[in-house]
Order: sequence, then C-alpha cells, then structure tokens
Amino acid sequence: MKKAMLVAAFAVVALFTLGLCYPAPKGDAQSGRPKATQAHYERLWAWLKQSDYTKWNAPNGKAPDFQEGHSPHGALIKTYLSERAAKDRKDLADGSVIVKENYGPDKKLMAITVMHRSKGYDAKNGDWYYAKYMPDGKIDVTPPEMKSMPVAGKFKMCIECHSGAAGGDFLFFND
Ligand code: HEC
Repeated sequence: MKKAMLVAAFAVVALFTLGLCYPAPKGDAQSGRPKATQAHYERLWAWLKQSDYTKWNAPNGKAPDFQEGHSPHGALIKTYLSERAAKDRKDLADGSVIVKENYGPDKKLMAITVMHRSKGYDAKNGDWYYAKYMPDGKIDVTPPEMKSMPVAGKFKMCIECHSGAAGGDFLFFND
C-alpha cells in the first residue's frame, strides 16, 4: 500500500515536472495534452516562478550580478540561464530558457525579457519564443496604435535586432 502510494506520488511529481520543464509555445498537440487554455507567456511565467529563475546562474556560471545593458534593454541588466541552457551555452538545447532582468540606472526593476527555445517553433529564426513581462509578471502590451498586442511570441522587433547578434545564434551574451 505504502509502496503504491510512493510510486503514484513519484509519477505525479514526474508528470508535473516534465510538464513544467517543457512548456510548448503552440497548443499542445505534440504531447497529446489537451490544447492549453492559457497563453504560452502565462505558462512560461508560471514556470519561471515555480522554478525560481533567480537562483539560476549567469552565462559565466556564477550568480548573476549587475552588468551594463544596452538600449532598448535596461541601463543595468542581470542575465540568467536555465539548467538546460547552461549545459552548452554555445549550442542551446531545445527547451532552453534565458531570462534578462532590466533595471533602471537606480537599480529599479523595469521589465523582464525572456527567450525560450522550442524546436520547430520558428526554424528560420533560431526557434526562439520572446516575451517581455512587467515586474509584476504581467505581459507587456504594445500601445493602442499598435493594437495593444502582448509582447510575446515571434515578436518582430525582438527578432530583427537579435538576428544581428554575431554567429547567427540570436544571442548577444555569446558575442
Ligand atoms: C535594438 C536591439 C534589441 C531589441 C529590439 C531587443 N533586444 Fe534583447 N538584447 C539586445 C542586446 C544588445 C542584448 C545584450 C544585453 C544588453 O546589452 O542589454 C540583448 C539581450 C537579450 C537577452 C539575453 C540573451 C542575450 O542575447 O544576451 C534576452 C533574453 C533578450 N535580449 C530578450 C529580448 C526580447 C524579449 C526582446 C523583445 C521584446 C528584445 N530582447 C529586443 C538587443 C535587443
């Protein structure tokens, strides 16, 4: 009885972890799960909180510290790599997540920009899903004249600039 319960608990934890580690940007057809009712950026944020990204390391393998950022990102930034991303930062595995906290010059958190690699999502642009969150976790939205769209997904502005990163990997921290 005890053993069966333990096995069941393990299965639940495993399923939960797998599901959380691997939020797929589009529907959930590949995994056979019912189509997600939540937007991918909402699930991604929930996963970032759940896995406490603030404990992840910077690209140099150490705890992130303030670095100078460049427009349009913060004057000061902190970059965090998920465990999967940290395994090989030159060739980021499917499912890798990179979080960048953007701060003002006074070290006030202004926004959190995220890149999530998902195989097949956008093959011609390195398969990156982009998202920009406000400090409270709400997705940023474009101004009304730009239709108040969530700043998430194959977001043209992010892609256009990141496509200029050296090495064609859409990442600046490797340059
Ligand atoms: C005009 C250019 C430009 C645009 C537009 C831009 N970025 Fe960046 N991004 C950079 C630069 C440069 C860096 C390197 C860090 C720095 O200097 O701030 C960077 C770094 C990042 C990083 C850390 C990984 C890396 O490449 O080093 C993430 C994550 C990120 N940006 C997400 C986004 C998202 C999401 C958007 C769209 C909402 C976006 N960026 C739009 C230029 C840009």
